[in-house]
Amino acid sequence: MRDQTLAVHAGAAPDPETGAVAPPLHLSTTFAHGPAGERRAGFEYQREDNPTQARLESALAAMEHGRAALAFASGMAAMSALLEGLPADSQLLIPDDCYTGLRVLATDFLATRSIAVQAVDMADIDVVRAALTPRTRMIWCETPSNPRLKIADIGALADLAQRAGCVLVCDNTFATPVLQNPLDLGADVVMHSTTKYFGGHSDVMGGALVFAERGALHDAAAHRRHVTGGIAAPFNSWLILRGCRSLHARMAMHCTNAHGLAHFLATRPEMARVNYPGLIAHPGHDVAMRQMRAGGAMLSVELAGGREAALRVASRLKLFTNATSLGGAESLVEHRASVEGAHPVSPPNLLRVSVGLEHVDDLIEDWAQALA
Ligand SMILES: Cc1ncc(COP(=O)(O)O)c(C=O)c1O
Repeated sequence: MRDQTLAVHAGAAPDPETGAVAPPLHLSTTFAHGPAGERRAGFEYQREDNPTQARLESALAAMEHGRAALAFASGMAAMSALLEGLPADSQLLIPDDCYTGLRVLATDFLATRSIAVQAVDMADIDVVRAALTPRTRMIWCETPSNPRLKIADIGALADLAQRAGCVLVCDNTFATPVLQNPLDLGADVVMHSTTKYFGGHSDVMGGALVFAERGALHDAAAHRRHVTGGIAAPFNSWLILRGCRSLHARMAMHCTNAHGLAHFLATRPEMARVNYPGLIAHPGHDVAMRQMRAGGAMLSVELAGGREAALRVASRLKLFTNATSLGGAESLVEHRASVEGAHPVSPPNLLRVSVGLEHVDDLIEDWAQALA
């Protein structure tokens, strides 16, 4: 079965009790069991597992070509369930360009457990190889990365991780399984903020881990989720499951729009750089085209006029709302350095752009008037 068909049908069997085609939403926190705790349908308490979330997990596992999936309350809950499982005194490699939350989690929490976190250029395999030590337990890649759209070669990293005896995790939030399947390229775990493209409408938070094997890593993360409570709420699971059905259709249009906008922006003299892996000039273009099916729907631009020029454009755009997050139907723009706290790492002239589902000509015209 092709992936597009799978996304529509995975976890979508009609409800056996009523025949309902849309999946039932089970809100119950508790499930009747026998006097000695015998489970009737495998469920006991919502924090451990629940039927709506179980449907979502079977869909996520199928879509990412994995053996098992775990849904979480947010992308950060998913991320920390995995990273908090690292043994003390181990080393973790993270990308030098990545979602801010990963960096904060690493410095504010992992460091207190003596986990050495090193940020490296994941786009340069020699740099990653040189950073490995006997203590390295995990390589965390994010490709394309947030917000500079750097591309890491997942297959090459998987090879390196396997030789070093450590785990490769890939944050696949920007690409989604529609464009990229890291487990097929050798990654051990895929992480998602399902808040983004899976939800697709900027109205639900969620996260997920998808595992190549249902082994120790999966079991440890499931146990941690059960005990610490980062579970996905049933209604959120239900909304994200619904998002799976239209993910392929939405991604196709998101990507077409981003491609058109990126090509337009690349012609503008106001731009010092346009970071979009679908552009031939992007340093990761060749790797991206090998491991992705299109350039994606996220891009960032670095303005030649510096911070002031970036803020001016952000304030003049009309269709692009200044807001954080990404992956919704509406286009968003954000001056990342302004929202990254006391120590911003994004270049001051950078604007991150989430390209929505509006007509591409309207999006281009909006940038043209904002740059005029
Ligand atoms: C690439 C990436 N990973 C993880 C996260 C965190 O996800 P959440 O906000 O759902 O916790 C984000 C959020 O923006 C993200 O962009």
